Amino acid sequence: MEALLRPASSLSLPAFTALFNEGYEGYVIPFRVDEATVRWMLDSFDIDADASRVAFHGDEPVGFANLARRADQAWVGGVGVVPSARRQGLGEQLMRAVHEEAQSRGVATVRLEVIDRNEAAFLLYEKLGYVVEREVEVWTLSADVAGGSAREVPAPQAHARIRALRNWREPWQRDDGTLAHFDDVRGLETESGAALFRVTGVVQLLQIAGDDSEELLRTLRQHGTVSVLNLPVDDPSADSLRTLGAAAVVRQREMVLGLEPHH
Ligand SMILES: CC(C)(COP(=O)(O)OP(=O)(O)OC[C@H]1O[C@@H](n2cnc3c(N)ncnc32)[C@H](O)[C@@H]1OP(=O)(O)O)[C@@H](O)C(=O)NCCC(=O)NCCS
Repeated sequence: MEALLRPASSLSLPAFTALFNEGYEGYVIPFRVDEATVRWMLDSFDIDADASRVAFHGDEPVGFANLARRADQAWVGGVGVVPSARRQGLGEQLMRAVHEEAQSRGVATVRLEVIDRNEAAFLLYEKLGYVVEREVEVWTLSADVAGGSAREVPAPQAHARIRALRNWREPWQRDDGTLAHFDDVRGLETESGAALFRVTGVVQLLQIAGDDSEELLRTLRQHGTVSVLNLPVDDPSADSLRTLGAAAVVRQREMVLGLEPHH
């Protein structure tokens, strides 16, 4: 059946949420979102609903690709096709459409992450020209009241310290552009390091830099179970997490595609 593509902004939030869940059916990790989560993702990650695309079979939405955008950088924040419509070229069509939208908006680089066991998605991205840039992991560190001695400081102070120390690119979901949407970011500092975190049931470590990652992590786990999203495998704090007995629960490939300038 011929599919018609429309901007994601043409779907209501409830319809888009339903499509999100159907598109992720059978995903390597069970994944379900509610409307509040979808709204939160759209806001926090700067997903551009006009540049994102939904595929329709008649009136029925059957697939989507979300494009997030900050200046000339973009990120694919979810792509999914409902099981009955897979392997008909829709995923590819949706991705090519959001690349065109990105290009026409001056985007130079698109990135995304794909879980290492998601062969279908990985092959799709390879076919589109994406290459693996680095590997990242999701970590969980259990709570421990014994704790460390990093001191809490205003978030802007810790953030300035991190920016001065770091020489890497943060993953999109923990990048400065994402943090700018949060009003509950807290800061930690030691003599030679700093961290940013927020407590949302779990303690989300948002950014960390400097030589004291073990001390910073010990302090953080006093607040509860610590979760770190998409930490590059060669990040120095990955060693500290390992030393403290944390588990890497998911491994992902971060992939990148360069776009030709639009004429
Ligand atoms: C990944 C997904 C979006 C692909 O959508 P799709 O419409 O089935 O993909 P297409 O038919 O456009 O396939 C395009 C290319 O992707 C690759 N591909 C897609 N599904 C594949 C599969 N099951 N096995 C192997 N390769 C596959 C192939 O390279 C294919 O090209 P080909 O047809 O020339 O072989 C779909 O499987 C899906 O929704 N999965 C669940 C959600 C998900 O994993 N999202 C990605 C998160 S990173």
